[in-house]
Amino acid sequence: MDQELINKIRENTDIVEFISKYIPLVKKGKNYFGLCPFHNDNNPSLSVSREKQIYKCFVCGEAGNVFNFIQKYENVSYKEAIKIVGDSIGISIGYDIKKVVDKNQIYYDIYDIANKFYQNNLFSSEGLEARNYLEKRKLDLETIKEFQIGLSLDKKDSLYNLLVKKGYDIEILEKSGLINFDHDIYTNRIIFPLFNQNGKINGFSGRIYHGENTNKYLNTRETAIFKKGENLFNYDRAKEEARKKKYVIIMEGFMACIRAYTIGIKNCIATMGTALTIDQVNLIKRLTNTVYLCFDGDNAGINATLNNGKILLENNLKVKVISLTDNLDPDDFIIKYGKDKFYSLLENPLNYEDFKIRRLKNGVNFHSSEELSNYINLVLKEISQVKDAIKREIMLKNLAEETNVWYNTLEKKLNELLSEKKLVSSNKNILLPKKEKKDKYERTLQILIYYMLTRKGTITLVENSNVYFPIDSYRQLFLEISDYYNKYGSISIADFSTYLEEKGEFKDIFKEIISLDLDNNVSNDIILDYLKVIDNYNVSLEIKRLENLIMNEVDPLEQAKISNQIWKLKMGSEKS
Ligand code: GTP
Ligand code: MN
Repeated sequence: MDQELINKIRENTDIVEFISKYIPLVKKGKNYFGLCPFHNDNNPSLSVSREKQIYKCFVCGEAGNVFNFIQKYENVSYKEAIKIVGDSIGISIGYDIKKVVDKNQIYYDIYDIANKFYQNNLFSSEGLEARNYLEKRKLDLETIKEFQIGLSLDKKDSLYNLLVKKGYDIEILEKSGLINFDHDIYTNRIIFPLFNQNGKINGFSGRIYHGENTNKYLNTRETAIFKKGENLFNYDRAKEEARKKKYVIIMEGFMACIRAYTIGIKNCIATMGTALTIDQVNLIKRLTNTVYLCFDGDNAGINATLNNGKILLENNLKVKVISLTDNLDPDDFIIKYGKDKFYSLLENPLNYEDFKIRRLKNGVNFHSSEELSNYINLVLKEISQVKDAIKREIMLKNLAEETNVWYNTLEKKLNELLSEKKLVSSNKNILLPKKEKKDKYERTLQILIYYMLTRKGTITLVENSNVYFPIDSYRQLFLEISDYYNKYGSISIADFSTYLEEKGEFKDIFKEIISLDLDNNVSNDIILDYLKVIDNYNVSLEIKRLENLIMNEVDPLEQAKISNQIWKLKMGSEKS
């Protein structure tokens, strides 16, 4: 690909703005920080530099330029990554992404065929009853089309026949999760397609609609393309809106999510009635760091709220709760009370902690000192989990007011709990593995290369010093940089990163070099000092080599010669 065009795309893309579209970033000093999407990050450890146009993660070590970011993030090839960035600023690189041959493509094809088949069924004469059912549930045609809702009929008109006619292998059909032996798994159900995070259909959920005495919903079993714990209903459709609104709403069931969509709430996703997994949490983190939990108003929903809220908090997301009355789920609530009422709930979400405390208060007899003190202790424990000191103080004040217990007493108890907690967490830190320490000389080589890429004049300084880089990979990297600089007349760490990517070499050490993130405002003397360190190292290697030689030498005259050489080398390096 045309290196100049690629550099032009990179130069016209601001990495901070670009990454912000995927991850919320906050400015701290010179750099911007966000939760790293490449490991399970709890503290914002991804740092993005506008000045250098690179990103790096302090914890997992992932680093690179804007192309590396999107390549890793979207799991695409480097060429595709360049195309995505180019498209985002309106530069077309006239390169057709060759369809990556996914070994699971055959299953996606099958699901697409099935989906069309089910959608057709819904609008056939046999679909009348199902259409009536959907109408009764206030799902209009537009919504049916948007969510691609369909219908499976009974055996005689089977998906199985269609797929066999299309030439699919029985074995593949069985593995698809849609067929059992020679018959369909879905019959007489309204079909809701499930989409993966890229918008491909990878499963179905089928709902009974004329009162059969069987499971209300039937979900696709786990297959090569469907992993329950990795899917979130409506994720793909909600992505952009959630990033824009800066929060995402999670509901318990997908019907509720569809209902929210019909009243214009498009930043809503749903679990399939199970607790959030770490994979799902990581998907959510890609959108925003604020989550509204809007689960059913019944006991199961309340427990799910508490449970999922805890998981989200542990992963450092902000959690708010929309709590519904009368045991209603969001779907029923919106139908019963209307759009405006629901919107006003959204405008006043409860903090998760307040929601939790409100639950604790339920049924407590404030006249019983036993129950009251028990309640206070539970609330204090809750408050001690809150990270923000101001929030803690507000909560403490509220507790003092509502229980008529002196604020200072409560505060003292809270501080006790907090110091206990600190003890536990500081013990935890000791268990963390120490970061592997790089060999001093290798580190020095890395620093020199870093400065060659970021500090004016360094390349010439290094070239003129004639210092030999004692490690092969660094020596080659040094030569590449030198060549690049002499060819293009300038160099930047972000562009050189692209260049290396095209070459496909030195990726790992280059990531480490990028991660150094040094101050490039240093004097020539400092650079010369680093060069001296390498020089001395080379000398010590040479001395070692000669000392070995002496040991194997039998001729005393030769021995004297070598020892003289060693002496000279030692003197030389002492002088400097
Ligand atoms: P409607 O009854 O159609 O309004 O659905 P709902 O969204 O109110 O469903 P409910 O609250 O009962 O369940 C929430 C979620 O749990 C659903 O979206 C399903 O994913 C899941 N679920 C509910 N019932 C079943 C079932 O019988 N089998 C399975 N596998 N999942 C179910
Ligand atoms: Mn419902």
